[in-house]
Amino acid sequence: MDLGIFIPIGNNGWMMSKNSPQYMPSFALNSETAARAEEAGFEFLLSMVKLRGFGGDTEFWDHNLESFTLMAGLAAATEKINLFASVALPTMEPAMVARMASTIDDISDGRFGINIVSGWNQIEYSQMGVWPGDWYYEKRYDYATEYVQIMQDLWKDGVSDLKGEYFQMDDCRLSPLPQGGKVPLVCAGQSDRGMEFCATYGDYQFIIGTEDLDVVRNDASRLVAAAEKTGRDVGVYVLFQITMGDTDEEAQAKWQHYKDGADLEAIKFLIGAAEMDTAGATADKIAEMQQAFNLNIGAVVGSHQTIADRLDEVSEIPGVKGVMCVFDDYPVATKEFGEKIMPLMKSRS
Ligand SMILES: Cc1cc2nc3c(=O)[nH]c(=O)nc-3n(C[C@H](O)[C@H](O)[C@H](O)COP(=O)(O)O)c2cc1C
Repeated sequence: MDLGIFIPIGNNGWMMSKNSPQYMPSFALNSETAARAEEAGFEFLLSMVKLRGFGGDTEFWDHNLESFTLMAGLAAATEKINLFASVALPTMEPAMVARMASTIDDISDGRFGINIVSGWNQIEYSQMGVWPGDWYYEKRYDYATEYVQIMQDLWKDGVSDLKGEYFQMDDCRLSPLPQGGKVPLVCAGQSDRGMEFCATYGDYQFIIGTEDLDVVRNDASRLVAAAEKTGRDVGVYVLFQITMGDTDEEAQAKWQHYKDGADLEAIKFLIGAAEMDTAGATADKIAEMQQAFNLNIGAVVGSHQTIADRLDEVSEIPGVKGVMCVFDDYPVATKEFGEKIMPLMKSRS
């Protein structure tokens, strides 16, 4: 089973908490994480694109680096790990992104791929005047289809003449081409339409892990069914939040401490309850909000053995080809995972 890391391109990683490690994103932090990941034998790193934060006491994701330029830097700083940058489609033209990708393909000697983000959070785009309009959300995967067709034509043949509804190419050229005339694409849409799109154009589909593995099983089966229809080989990568300790109790205590520090103001932004008065909220409501402190990414909390066993269980799910990890304290946890969890995983031997 492949293992990857969702690297900390935004401040504080994926925990909206005042008690979790507090840090700004930087090239130093990400290249240190990449170096530890390569040493440990992880297969890939992915950086997201996030253009507007959630605020709150922790200024959650108010600080974010840019995905392609960060990965270009990491491409030069690493030797064997695969690297994925994320493009938010409304923000950049496909011919330009195709060229950026062939450049990073060259820097990395063929280790670069793209995560296609169709765009869901309007404010990220409207703040810079590029939200296409009210029609966009409904049509986001039609738009993405033309977008990706243009890039794939350019990578394969060096030319696109696509005349679509959203884009009109006019003998558009690209050279040099990426290795093998292709750049791998990953997608993380969770809707059926999103999975259909990935089954047609993508190489890997990300799904959000949950504690109940039946939900993961069901989501993976939706992708498998879509890929059967298109007859393409598309693997599922599952996203999990890893919190480890020497014992289950130690890891659980760490996790509870992070949860106790939940940044309710930032969570309010995430759940679209900006008008809510958190000071006057009931204990139940606060507990419910606290649950979302890690953006509802499935938590795997426990000793090294507990985590290894759980990930082995995930590897048995039909369609699953890998797991992408989110950590609390990146360089430290990356090293610890490589030294203490990977050797215990049957799915890695
Ligand atoms: C692993 C993973 C990575 C994602 N990366 C991004 C990202 O970089 N930027 C972003 O705005 N959304 C990101 N998303 C959100 C998805 O791209 C997608 O918009 C969301 O899951 C909703 O799916 P849908 O558009 O099919 O409804 C990510 C989701 C997952 C699970």
